[in-house]
Amino acid sequence: MKYSFYNVVDPEFKAVNQLIINSLSSHVPLVEEIANYLIDAGGKRLRPLLVLLSSKALGYQRNEHIKLAAVIEFLHTAMLLHDDVVDDSLLRRGRKTVNAEWGNPASVLVGDFLHSRALEMMVDIGEMEVMQILSVATNTIAEGEVQQLTNIRNPNITELSYLEVIDRKTAKLFEASSHAGAVLALSLNEGVSGSKEDQEIARVQKASLKHFGQHLGMAFQLVDDALDYVGTTEQLGKNVGDDLAEGKVTLPLIVAMRTGKKNESRLIEDAILNADINKLDDVMEIVESTGGLDYTNQKAEQEIQKALSCLTHIPDSAYKTEMQNLATFSLQRNT
Ligand code: IPE
Ligand code: IPE
Ligand code: MG
Ligand code: MG
Ligand code: MG
Repeated sequence: MKYSFYNVVDPEFKAVNQLIINSLSSHVPLVEEIANYLIDAGGKRLRPLLVLLSSKALGYQRNEHIKLAAVIEFLHTAMLLHDDVVDDSLLRRGRKTVNAEWGNPASVLVGDFLHSRALEMMVDIGEMEVMQILSVATNTIAEGEVQQLTNIRNPNITELSYLEVIDRKTAKLFEASSHAGAVLALSLNEGVSGSKEDQEIARVQKASLKHFGQHLGMAFQLVDDALDYVGTTEQLGKNVGDDLAEGKVTLPLIVAMRTGKKNESRLIEDAILNADINKLDDVMEIVESTGGLDYTNQKAEQEIQKALSCLTHIPDSAYKTEMQNLATFSLQRNT
């Protein structure tokens, strides 16, 4: 991709991609075939990028950030393999999903393989604080996915409950990416002195990058949920309308039910209750006309404002500038 936030860490980004490929080896050919199939399709690799940018923004000089970035992409990819089973999705990264091509069991099991390969590599890095961040994050994501499952086909889900779900299922991994990147850069072996003053600066910088990732992740999922009603399958590489097809209640629908006329709210409620994809065109029109999409996008903008304000505690550098650009991109993306 030709965005400047990739270019600023170009050699490192290439090293991450190479490590991802090199780390897929398995004694079982089908594991490699399936893992390669999905990984080869690309994806935006935003979470590994965030690891690189946040560690470099704090002056990291060694090489463990490459491995950390690959670990996080593996965790993400493992979650996608499970997510597409749970969501019954047929298209991902412009290709048939693994579940569509090989079936649910293979998708779940190769997801487990990638998840556990990520754990092996994480242990190799050997930073206890990083392990803590990643283990809490993956656990929280699992909770978020289950919480979302309990909300399915329930038109009474509140905005608050929706925000809680996306914080857990999506923002948490963005948060872990920038937080763990900062932790690597500020670990004591990195020459950060143990003076009280240094410790306090390190604490503020870690917290700032952590919160940057969290707000970016919230915005990212808000936009994803809007795109599920206005995006194009071609650009997204996944099928538009998947959320409605599974009866998933996202913010565009919550707002449309709240502000729409009685018959509009009723139509959306019924579509949610019946996970009725045949109503997609009507629902698209209503989320647009009732301001459901505008509201969702505004909420994403607010999150990005918060993310940007976190960066005021980080010293100026090309890496910081690209974190700002990445934040802006996440609002404009259609891919
Ligand atoms: C998809 O994430 C899952 C969500 C949190 C919406 P991405 O949109 O980052 O997926 P890839 O890795 O670029 O395919
Ligand atoms: C993704 O949510 C969250 C994950 C933890 C994978 P979605 O279900 O909206 O993601 P997409 O739209 O399938 O990528
Ligand atoms: Mg999904
Ligand atoms: Mg899902
Ligand atoms: Mg989605």
